[in-house]
Amino acid sequence: MDKKDILLPQHVAIIMDGNGRWAKQRGLKRTEGHKVGAEVFRTISKYCADIGIKYVTFYAFSTENWKRSKAEVTAIMNLLRRYLDEMKERVLENEEAGIHISFIGSREGMPKDIVKLMDEVECRSSDKTKTYVNLAVNYGGRAEIVKSVKEIAERVKKGEINPEDIDEDMISDGIYTANQPDPDLIIRPSGEYRLSNFLLWQSAYAELYIDDVLWPDYTPEDLDRAIEEYSKRNRRFGGV
Ligand code: FPP
Repeated sequence: MDKKDILLPQHVAIIMDGNGRWAKQRGLKRTEGHKVGAEVFRTISKYCADIGIKYVTFYAFSTENWKRSKAEVTAIMNLLRRYLDEMKERVLENEEAGIHISFIGSREGMPKDIVKLMDEVECRSSDKTKTYVNLAVNYGGRAEIVKSVKEIAERVKKGEINPEDIDEDMISDGIYTANQPDPDLIIRPSGEYRLSNFLLWQSAYAELYIDDVLWPDYTPEDLDRAIEEYSKRNRRFGGV
């Protein structure tokens, strides 16, 4: 397919899956897979900015991932801490790439120093507009909908709105990705066919693309393939 015929999705969302299996195949600890996975996250975010994808959301840590061993949770938090720390050093690099970073998910229960770093990194990149990268950390799709519904219920309680006024836009306004378009394409590497509580509200009309490649092996060429396939799909949004 000629590059000029490719229809770029506006918003791509990626479930970074397969780190553990990748490490196991090599006789390494699972945390080694996460380490390489974090590097791939950086490469793919930059690549998305290079090719002009406006929004990219990566699933890094779910509200359910706390159930993993203490050692694995600590290792993922340390990777996140290091990435955030380095990001402050790499302001220039990110400025060149024009990447705006947001963290989606609950800050409650997260280590306080990481929350502080997240706020700093968000603040430093807040004027960038080339590509919006959302990193989902302590994120759960159902919890996100509950959060939005609770905010609406508070407004009803205060008498600001009536239950009849509640509509889809109101729920969309209360979720973490408010003001961003819904994902057009959701990619899940490592061959699993499920959403795992990722962007449940936003994924209503997303195209799904499952890839066998494990996340630490994921390359820009793999993303190109997913986009090419997306480009051939006929999206009808419930119409004919
Ligand atoms: C899923 O693979 C991956 C995770 C639960 C963690 C993903 C975390 C990272 C890529 C690092 C986060 C840090 C930054 C800076 C983005 P899995 O462990 O479920 O793999 P498996 O299904 O093969 O066991």
